[in-house]
Amino acid sequence: MNFLNIDDLTGAQLEDVLTRAIDLKERTARGKTAEAMSGRTLAMIFEKPSTRTRVSFETGATQLGGHAIFLGPDDIHLGHGEPAKDTARALSRYVDAIMARVFDHEDVVELGEYATVPVINGLTDDAHPCQTLADLLTIRERFDGFDARLAWVGDGNNVCQSLVLGAAIVGLDLVVATPEGYGVDDAVLDRAAELGSKPEITTDPEAAVSGADAVYTDVWVSMGEESERAEKLDAFSRAGFRVTEDLLGDRLFMHCLPAHRGEEVTDAVLESDNAIVWSQAENRLHAQKGLLASLLS
Ligand code: CP
Ligand code: NVA
Repeated sequence: MNFLNIDDLTGAQLEDVLTRAIDLKERTARGKTAEAMSGRTLAMIFEKPSTRTRVSFETGATQLGGHAIFLGPDDIHLGHGEPAKDTARALSRYVDAIMARVFDHEDVVELGEYATVPVINGLTDDAHPCQTLADLLTIRERFDGFDARLAWVGDGNNVCQSLVLGAAIVGLDLVVATPEGYGVDDAVLDRAAELGSKPEITTDPEAAVSGADAVYTDVWVSMGEESERAEKLDAFSRAGFRVTEDLLGDRLFMHCLPAHRGEEVTDAVLESDNAIVWSQAENRLHAQKGLLASLLS
């Protein structure tokens, strides 16, 4: 089974991953080890930079008794002439799972079609399901479940799109505010409706945060969008999408990181006690250990 989108998991499978994550988090805190990856290897393909995804997967593999191999953009032939389908079949003869962070979502789909081991999406231009796992774990810890209202204030990007689907699966109340023209793909909203519920959609950040328990944002310019930088910074700042202390009020603040202080969020918000971004970052480790344990069981 592959994990290319958050909705590759049914509600029950998602619950299983989160339950495993919580159990593994408690075991780690008690200094206990786990064996889910004993003698097993994870290949990690990165076409884009990463701090959290790379280190949490590599550390997670070690903590599960396994091993991870980092394959950067110039380490393998993918991106230098070898197609994804050949990379998938060769790696499958060596390793027990493949995690890939690539630009084109179709590349992880092709890896998944041809690999004979599980393929995990470590972020594409369209989706970031591993981030959603950690975010759902963080929300569940903070609110003792999913009975909460979350406001997305930012770009309708990969992180947002996976969150929309994840929220629909678990029944989290989500409102998505994006500037005009930067919304979530219609196909994602249709899929959310199939899964349970579409988020509320608005272009008004103030309206979005009103009544919300937590506010989530991400960078305005994602990796690969550098040529749109000036245009996006102008559009998002003019539309009032920066999360300031005024906009946030006493709500919790979430961000997948890395953050660009002074763009989508102020330094004061990130450094405030309302920010739970470090718990989100930590939970990448626990959530992905739960995922690996589930996929390899
Ligand atoms: N949130 C996240 O995926 O961070 P990295 O880009 O550092 O992996
Ligand atoms: N939307 C961001 C997320 C980084 C983790 C990007 O794709 O660059």
